[in-house]
Order: sequence, then structure tokens, then C-alpha cells
Amino acid sequence: MARRLVRALADLAPAGARRAVAGAMVDLKSLPARLRDPARRAEPWSFVHNVGNGDFQAIGAMLLHNLEDHAGLKPTDQVLDIGCGNGRVAAQLAPVLRPAGGYVGFDISRRGIQACRRQFAREPHMRFQHLDVWNGEYNARGRVAELDTVFPAPDQSIDLAFATSVFTHMRMPAVRRYLSETARVLRQGGRLAFTVFALEPGREASDAFAFQEFDATSAVVDFRYPERAIGHRREALEQAVTEAGLRVAAFLRGYWTPVGEYDGGQDLFVVVKP
Ligand SMILES: C[S@@+](CC[C@H](N)C(=O)[O-])C[C@H]1O[C@@H](n2cnc3c(N)ncnc32)[C@H](O)[C@@H]1O
Repeated sequence: MARRLVRALADLAPAGARRAVAGAMVDLKSLPARLRDPARRAEPWSFVHNVGNGDFQAIGAMLLHNLEDHAGLKPTDQVLDIGCGNGRVAAQLAPVLRPAGGYVGFDISRRGIQACRRQFAREPHMRFQHLDVWNGEYNARGRVAELDTVFPAPDQSIDLAFATSVFTHMRMPAVRRYLSETARVLRQGGRLAFTVFALEPGREASDAFAFQEFDATSAVVDFRYPERAIGHRREALEQAVTEAGLRVAAFLRGYWTPVGEYDGGQDLFVVVKP
């Protein structure tokens, strides 16, 4: 009852405040691990930039393993982290990519990027860039339109790009733009791994994600804040991948609905640049 009341009140709060409160709960849960293990004390605080529930290290490690197991991550890769948040995957990648590989992460959250720069100040192969791109959930005052976004990487410079839980906060036209930017920066044979809620007939909502139709390609959990969580039709995503000049290499269902096919909550697409 009390929990439902807190949730109802939180739903009325602006996006930034809601995420900060949720982040403070994540921080509280992380306190025992931080106290036990001095290495974990440097982890970023989620009330500053919240990238989701769960243990920072455990989720980061799971995402890294998925990049290794399903997207062919190699220590020599040049990597682009699209929407790197507060460095959850970067923290796992830094030792793997050293010394031959390189990493660029970008995000629209200034605080997230500041946290990453502090955390990796002594690791020159880990670079971070803030882009002031608009997003209703994460940067409602952003000055650059999503459709004008230019990734901070030269043409054909990247072996592996990934976006974990980022297209789940972007409408379809923005996803198309990000796919075409990815196609620009990937080398021939380069890969992109991205996680989404890929809606399919009979698999269009769950208890945690009560998606409702938003437009022809997408569904949302909250019409007031569409970017809070967005699902896209699987065939629309596949069409967008093809239109960007990329090819779907693998599609694995996550456990946000009961038919999980790999160790990840959201569905995973791996695509290649032919
Ligand atoms: C749920 S968090 C995931 C963060 C990170 N990928 C991870 O797995 O730890 C979503 C992230 O996407 C970022 N984001 C939202 N819209 C974006 C956009 N248009 N371009 C880049 N990043 C974006 C947010 O600022 C936030 O850091």
C-alpha cells in the first residue's frame, strides 16, 4: 500500500526528480557493498545520474559478457558506447581494451559524462564526450535535436558500437538517425549491438512494462513522458536497420517477457555493416 502510494507520487514528479529518487534507492542498496569493498567506493552515485536498477558491477559485467559472447568484442577493437551513462559498461571494458583497443563513450547527460571523466581520469584510452541532445526523460533542456545528432567519431573508425538501454528511451525517427550515424562510423564488417523492447505479436507488454500503442511503430508506458520507456515493433526496427545500410546478424529475446533467450533483460539485436 505504502509502496503503491510512493510510486503514485513519484509518477507525478518531473522526470529528473523521479529518476533522482529512484537513483537514491539504488545508492542505498549499494551501501553494504561499498562499505565491504574499498574498490567499489569510487562507483558513481545513481542519484546524480540514474541508469537503472540493479547492482552497478553485476549489470556492467553481464553487459560486457553479452558483447563478448554475441557481438564478437575483441581487446583490439575501437569501441563506441552510444549513451554511455555513468560508465557502467566502460568500467568493465577499460581493462579488457588496454592497451591495444580504444573507447569513446558519449551521452546527453552532462553529469553522467562528468562522472565518467572523473572515474577514468588516468586511463587515456577511455574518452568521453557530452552531446547536448534533447531527450524528454534525460535532457529535456537539450539544445540539439536528436535528428541532428552527429556521433563523436570519424567515418569508418569503429569496430564495435553498442547502445544498451538507449533506444528504449528514443522515438523511432531518432533511432533511425542513430542507426544511420552508426553506419557512417562503422568500418566494413563492423558490428552494432543494441538492446530494445522489440514488440512482436503476442509479446507486446509485460507486468513491469505495460506498453500501450503510441504510434504506428512504437508503444510507451507513460503518454506524458514517452521517453520514459518505449518499445518498438520488431519489423520496424529491422526495416530501419536495412534502410541504414546495415544487416541484422542476430536477434535474441530478453527476459522482460517470460521467453528469455539470453542473459539480458531487454531484447538484443546484433547488426553488421556489410
Ligand atoms: C538506462 S540508461 C543506460 C546507460 C548505459 N547505456 C548503461 O547501460 O549503463 C540510458 C542512457 O541513455 C542516455 N540517452 C538518452 N537519450 C540519448 C540520446 N539521444 N543520445 C545519447 N544518449 C542518450 C541517457 O542519458 C542515459 O544515460
